[in-house]
Amino acid sequence: MTVNVYDQKILILDFGSQYTQLIARRVREARVYCEIHPFNMSLQKIKDFSPKGIILSGGPSSIYDDNAPFAEKGLIDLEVPILGICYGMQFLTHLLGGVVAKSGDREYGNVQIRIEDERDLFYGLGRGEQRTVWMSHGDRIDHMPEGFEALAGSKNSPVAAMADVERRRFGVQFHPEVAHTPDGLKIIGNFLFRICGCDPSWTMASFVRKTVKSLKEDIGEERVICGLSGGVDSSVTAVLLHGAIGEKLSCILVDNGLLRRNEAREVMDVFQGYYGMDLHLVDASEHFLKHLDGVTDPEKKRKIIGREFIRIFEEKAKELGRAKYLAQGTLYPDVIESVSFKGPSATIKSHHNVGGLPDVMNLELIEPLRELFKDEVREVGVELGLPRELVMRQPFPGPGLAVRILGEITGERLEILRAADAIVRDEIKMAGLYEKVWQSFAVLLPVRTVGVMGDERTYENVIAVRSVDSLDAMTADWSKIPYEVLGRISNRIINSVKGVNRVVYDISSKPPSTIEWE
Ligand code: XMP
Repeated sequence: MTVNVYDQKILILDFGSQYTQLIARRVREARVYCEIHPFNMSLQKIKDFSPKGIILSGGPSSIYDDNAPFAEKGLIDLEVPILGICYGMQFLTHLLGGVVAKSGDREYGNVQIRIEDERDLFYGLGRGEQRTVWMSHGDRIDHMPEGFEALAGSKNSPVAAMADVERRRFGVQFHPEVAHTPDGLKIIGNFLFRICGCDPSWTMASFVRKTVKSLKEDIGEERVICGLSGGVDSSVTAVLLHGAIGEKLSCILVDNGLLRRNEAREVMDVFQGYYGMDLHLVDASEHFLKHLDGVTDPEKKRKIIGREFIRIFEEKAKELGRAKYLAQGTLYPDVIESVSFKGPSATIKSHHNVGGLPDVMNLELIEPLRELFKDEVREVGVELGLPRELVMRQPFPGPGLAVRILGEITGERLEILRAADAIVRDEIKMAGLYEKVWQSFAVLLPVRTVGVMGDERTYENVIAVRSVDSLDAMTADWSKIPYEVLGRISNRIINSVKGVNRVVYDISSKPPSTIEWE
C-alpha cells in the first residue's frame, strides 16, 4: 500500500553519486519533499510523479564511458526546471549538444569560484565575489550548449556553473550538497524556491496530518498488526497508526529474553499505559533460551532468533484474529538502497524488519515511514508526543543481547550483561553523551581473567565497553569518551556486578571491525 500525500515534489535522478542521499537530505532540510529514483526512470513515470523540479545527481562515470548512465532524452523537453550536479551537468551538456572535455586529472577538494551572475541560482551570493565550493570531477564543460551562459568559473573550470535561464536549465560542476560548500544550502534553496517555485511546506506536522488522514482512508475497517520493539522506528509507526485507526491496531511485543534491563516493562508502560494501545506482551524468554541452549556461533544465533520470532509472532497474531495488514517501520535509506541507481530490476537486498513475516502470514505491508530519514522519524516522534527518552534511543539490534554475549547464552550470563549494560547506559547519560554517540553498550566476553578482591584471588568474567560515533552505522569510529567517565563505568561494574573483575574499552573503528562484536 502506498501513501502519497505530497503536492510539491522534487525528483532526484540518481547517477550513482556517493552524495545522492545528501542532496535529498538538503532538499528536505529546506522543507521541500523529494524522492530519489534511478537515472533510468521512464519518461511516463517522471510525468506521473509530476515534479516541481528535477535534480540530476553526480556520479562516478564519465559520459564517454561505455556503460555511462543516460537518462531518458525526453527529459529535456519537460516544462520543469532542471539542475544538473557534476555528472548531471555533464549529462545535460552532452544531451543539449554542448561539449564535455574528457580529462585525465581530477579536480578535487576546495576550490574558489567567481560569481558572474547572481540573478537566479546564485541569488544573494554577490556578483564578482569569490566563493568556496567542493569539487570532485574529472571531465569538464568545454562548450556550453546553445542558449547557455556561464554563471561562475574557477581556475580549472571556466564553466563552474551555467544556465539557460529562459528554459530553466541549470548546471553546477561542484557539489552544493556537501558541507564543504558553505553556500550550498543557499544555492539549493534558490533552485527550490526562486526557480522551481516551491514553498517550504514539508514539515513533520504536515506529514503527520496528511499521513494519518490517508492511513485512515486507505485502511478503512480492516485490522492492522504491528510488531513493537520499543525502538524508535516501530514506536513511531505504531503511534502514527494508533492515531489513524485506534482500536483497529493491535501491537505485539515479543520478549525474547534478550532485552535490556526493564525494557519490556518500560515499553508496556508507554504504549499500553500512556497511549492505551491494544498491546500484547508475549513472554517467550524461556522459549528462546531453550532454543539457544549451547549455541555459540553468531550466525546460528541470529537464524534461530529470527525463526523463533516469526513463529511466536505468527502464533500470537492468529490468536488475535483476522488482520489484513502488517505495519513495519521501514525507513527511506532502506528503500533507496533497494531501488536506487541500479534500478528496480537489479537484484536487491530485501529489508524486512521482521524477516519474511508477510510471506508466511499472507499480510499486506504498511510502511508509513518509508519516505523518511531517521532524523525526520525522530521529529515525527516528537510531534506525536512520544517521550524524548524513546525518540532519542540508540539503535538496538534485533537479536538483542544474544550478539553481545560471546559464546554461550545462559540466564546467568544474561543477568551479568544486563547489570553491566545498565551501568554503561547510566554513566553515559549522566555524562551528557547518550545523544552524542551513535551507540554505547557492554559486551560480555567468553574469557575469564585473574584478579584480586580483598585478600582473595578471583577468576572471573571480562566486560568490554563499546561506544561508537557514526552517521549511518555504515562506518563508525570509537568514541573518545573522557577517561573519568570510563573510570567510573569500570569502577561501578567491577564493584557491583557479581562475576566481573575486569573491564576493557574497545578502540576499533568500522571498518575493519563492526559495531557489534558478533
Ligand atoms: P554492525 O555490527 O554490522 O552493526 O557494524 C551495524 C548496525 O546494525 C545493528 N545490527 C543489527 N540490527 N539485526 C538488527 O536489527 C542484526 O542482526 C544486527 N546486527 C547489527 C547494530 O546495532 C548497528 O547499529
